[in-house]
Amino acid sequence: MLGILDMAKKKSNFVCQECGYNSPKYLGRCPNCSSWSSFVEEVEVQEVKNARVSLTGEKSKPTKLKDVSSINYARTKTDMDEFNRVLGGGVVPGSLVLIGGDPGIGKSTLLLQVSTQLADKGTVLYVSGEESAEQIKLRSERLGNIDNEFYLYAETNMQSIRSEIEKIQPDFLIIDSIQTIMSPEVSSVQGSVSQVREVTAELMQLAKTNNIATFIVGHVTKEGTLAGPRMLEHMVDTVLYFEGERHHTFRILRAVKNRFGSTNEIGIFEMQSGGLVEVLNPSQVFLEERLDGATGSAIVVTMEGSRPILAEVQSLVTPTVFGNAKRTTTGLDFNRASLIMAVLEKRCGLLLQNQDAYLKSAGGVKLDEPAIDLAVAVAIASSYKEKPTNPQEAFIGEIGLTGEIRRVTRIEQRINEAAKLGFTKIYAPKNSLQGIDLPKGIEVIGVATVGEVLKKVFA
Ligand SMILES: Nc1ncnc2c1ncn2[C@@H]1O[C@H](COP(=O)(O)OP(=O)(O)OP(=O)(O)O)[C@@H](O)[C@H]1O
Ligand SMILES: [Mg+2]
Repeated sequence: MLGILDMAKKKSNFVCQECGYNSPKYLGRCPNCSSWSSFVEEVEVQEVKNARVSLTGEKSKPTKLKDVSSINYARTKTDMDEFNRVLGGGVVPGSLVLIGGDPGIGKSTLLLQVSTQLADKGTVLYVSGEESAEQIKLRSERLGNIDNEFYLYAETNMQSIRSEIEKIQPDFLIIDSIQTIMSPEVSSVQGSVSQVREVTAELMQLAKTNNIATFIVGHVTKEGTLAGPRMLEHMVDTVLYFEGERHHTFRILRAVKNRFGSTNEIGIFEMQSGGLVEVLNPSQVFLEERLDGATGSAIVVTMEGSRPILAEVQSLVTPTVFGNAKRTTTGLDFNRASLIMAVLEKRCGLLLQNQDAYLKSAGGVKLDEPAIDLAVAVAIASSYKEKPTNPQEAFIGEIGLTGEIRRVTRIEQRINEAAKLGFTKIYAPKNSLQGIDLPKGIEVIGVATVGEVLKKVFA
């Protein structure tokens, strides 16, 4: 006879595809995430499996913390420094890395390149549920590596994958993609919440107990978040997003979670016919197409993780022809831009209320830290006043509502980066400059208010 607990376990078998909410009966609308028709019936697995059994069959036991041997994370470095940095300095053995990204952005390309490089350092197993081995071979020919040493395996069945892993005992495992792999023990369709959960749990167990560094490709939803249960992101050690714009060849690999390193690190790549190429000096790339003597342009030194990057803010301010003034932003935060325009109007006397304003960060980078405020303000003022800024000058600073320029982080690094790229003058918050060493060859002007900057720049 079934106990009450068993019955409860067997009964709850409708799962919301959007958020993973469980319900004992079919519901038209999910009470948790309010999405419609998202419930599917899924058969529960009844047998509880032994967690964390290693390939040798050993079970784990509770251990005192002081008795746990400290492992030395011997990180394996790939040939791509950008990739290593995003991971926190290289691939950690036994870590689980999830890589999400839009269709066609280059996830498989990236991991194929990484596999080739890792093949010199250990055994690599590349499991593809999306493409046939021939297709992958074709891609690797395009990437120029034909004599690859790693194992390719086109398979979607988790049981077969597990037995191959046990046979090959790889150091690095690549799963492309988690949504195409299915566990025969769960009867729901591929890519469903319970399948993804089950397969990830199994991969995690394999990775942790056998020290296999595992990379998992994950699909994203229309909104751009990783598809499947939110739990997926909690289960893995590192979550990376591979992003880029369709019309630009630049791709950005961003860490949003990392148990082995800092988050918000980015790696910049360019998609070329021969595969992904690292962009080692992004500042130069983002400033390449700048026009000399153009109005409405200002350069800012922004921090992307621990790295300073120079980027250009552009603005076009034109009189409104009809109705309300129009404002648009691309790559910048709309509300922040409105705030800066209000400050310029109120504190600096720029009559912007009857002007349309179009703001943009050049080159497809997203600028979202407060330190870009001053550059945005200068770009707007430059276009409004029809006066160009000097292309050798950069601006750093957060703007407060009273028009004051507020302190920003890592000012020294920012100034050094600008000096390295040949900038001759930089405007920075006065308060940030105390007690720091300034590099030679660049004039650093400490400023306290926006009004002061505009006076100095457009005198
Ligand atoms: N000959 C080529 N020259 C330049 N770029 C190419 C070439 N062939 C493919 N690409 C680029 O590679 C991309 C496909 O990369 P890839 O298959 O790695 O993407 P993916 O993220 O794995 O996609 P999916 O989600 O469909 O698996 C294309 O969108 C294109 O930008
Ligand atoms: Mg792919």
